[in-house]
Amino acid sequence: MRIIVNGAGGQMGKVLCAMIEEKAETEIAARVSMEFSTDAAQHIYADIKECTESADCIIDFSNHTAVPALCAYAVEKKLPLVIATTGLTADEQAEADKAAETVPVFQSANMSLGVALVACLAKIAAKTLPDANIEIVEAHHNRKLDVPSGTALLLADAIKSVRPESTYNIGRHENGKRTEEEIGIHSLRLGGEVGMHEIQFATGTQVITLKHQAQTRALFAEGALSAAAFLVKQPAGHYNMDDIFA
Ligand SMILES: NC(=O)c1ccc[n+]([C@@H]2O[C@H](COP(=O)([O-])OP(=O)(O)OC[C@H]3O[C@@H](n4cnc5c(N)ncnc54)[C@H](O)[C@@H]3O)[C@@H](O)[C@H]2O)c1
Repeated sequence: MRIIVNGAGGQMGKVLCAMIEEKAETEIAARVSMEFSTDAAQHIYADIKECTESADCIIDFSNHTAVPALCAYAVEKKLPLVIATTGLTADEQAEADKAAETVPVFQSANMSLGVALVACLAKIAAKTLPDANIEIVEAHHNRKLDVPSGTALLLADAIKSVRPESTYNIGRHENGKRTEEEIGIHSLRLGGEVGMHEIQFATGTQVITLKHQAQTRALFAEGALSAAAFLVKQPAGHYNMDDIFA
């Protein structure tokens, strides 16, 4: 599988490129990243629009502002697109949704199987403990741009799917009692933290905690490659972790 890596110069992009090069079944078609100077002979580009290499798939770990141009490129070249980038605005998300009408698009704010499992368990806990107060705490490295993390929102959305009345209180900072239906979401930004997500369910007599701790970025790169291997066999449509592990 030949892969174009968008955001190849970033923390995740570097880990992903190293993993692609290690595996016999994958190959880097091109590296694209804003800080690169284009060198077509080396298959390196500053902008996706300049990339002419043939490929089977694109994997994106870049910045949400890159997504519209990336979707246009994927549609033009008829390439499956894995979007791992988080923090998309509503307009950027609409571009991804539109692209999925023409090409297969895989999107997850967290590519790890472990977080997909935690989301499933969170739904069970929220249904089993309908009166529990729910709070989510996430921690990431001090260079992370989006707040709260896409994964914290993914987990809150999973809970909301079984508790539709839920509201999100992001970064609670005002005096007053919490409401019954709110899910508090709290973000820590600390040093080199790879990614921690914790959900607490408190009933008044007990507290149940679900916690996922990413220990290495390889976890997300591995997940993105599994997503790509899945995606290249699919027709146009919008896919996520539920489709892989269903
Ligand atoms: N889904 C997941 O499992 C998962 C896991 C980790 C990180 N992420 C997300 O992936 C993204 C990247 O994370 P990171 O830690 O590698 O960040 P980073 O800041 O280290 O790297 C981002 C890279 O993207 C490049 N870039 C920015 N705009 C670009 C554009 N328009 N075209 C091409 N390249 C562009 C930057 O130059 C930089 O090299 C973030 O949105 C992050 O939240 C997702």
